[in-house]
Amino acid sequence: MIMGRLSSYRIVISAGPTWEMIDPVRFLSNRSSGQLGYALARVAHAHGAKVTLISGPTALRPPHGVHVQQVVSAREMYRACMRAARTADIIIMTAAVADYRPTRLRRQKIKKRGTTTRLTLELTRNPDILATLCRRRRRGQYIVGFALESEHLLRNARTKLRHKGCDCIIANAVPAIGTKRHRVTIIEQDGKTHPLPALSKIQLARRLWSYIRTHVMMTP
Ligand code: CTP
Repeated sequence: MIMGRLSSYRIVISAGPTWEMIDPVRFLSNRSSGQLGYALARVAHAHGAKVTLISGPTALRPPHGVHVQQVVSAREMYRACMRAARTADIIIMTAAVADYRPTRLRRQKIKKRGTTTRLTLELTRNPDILATLCRRRRRGQYIVGFALESEHLLRNARTKLRHKGCDCIIANAVPAIGTKRHRVTIIEQDGKTHPLPALSKIQLARRLWSYIRTHVMMTP
């Protein structure tokens, strides 16, 4: 596929999960590997873009030539994204940001107490990074969200697109986690949908860039 150069764009991509610490050795997280975000960063760099990758903890090697900023928690990712967004032309939020964090971070490891078989953790909502970026968007900035759904994929993804206010959302079914081939649907603000065939992560990254580049050029 021929994809024009992206050399005039400053691009921010978030990737991977976040870790929400419970105590010094335990955390809440999710199964995101970060692979698609890293593939998007690699492809954008190969096409000449200036790329900042804001990554939660992953086992992946940082892509050559990409500025990688490692973060751990959703709040750290929030701060890094807000800072990077100030100069970004395109923002892509592939990160699986944890929606909640433990209300209280225990300084010491939580110990089992006697014969008690239950433990209750209180959680507090994390900020919604994508929604905030969209609210504070600079003129002409193009913002892409992802929607990971285990049911009613397109309906839920459309609702997310509307509530968060991004330019388009990539609807992704939960079985996609950890699989080799992905079948996603791009949904635009006006309701138009573009279902893509099953693709490897790198093929998908190329297809998404091809789509985004065309649409960024049409954005006033
Ligand atoms: N997202 C974000 N900040 C959050 C949660 C999600 O920026 N605190 C972003 C993700 O990076 C993704 C989009 O919002 O681009 C949708 O994430 P998803 O996990 O599918 O949905 P949630 O907003 O978490 O909603 P729900 O868990 O209710 O499905």
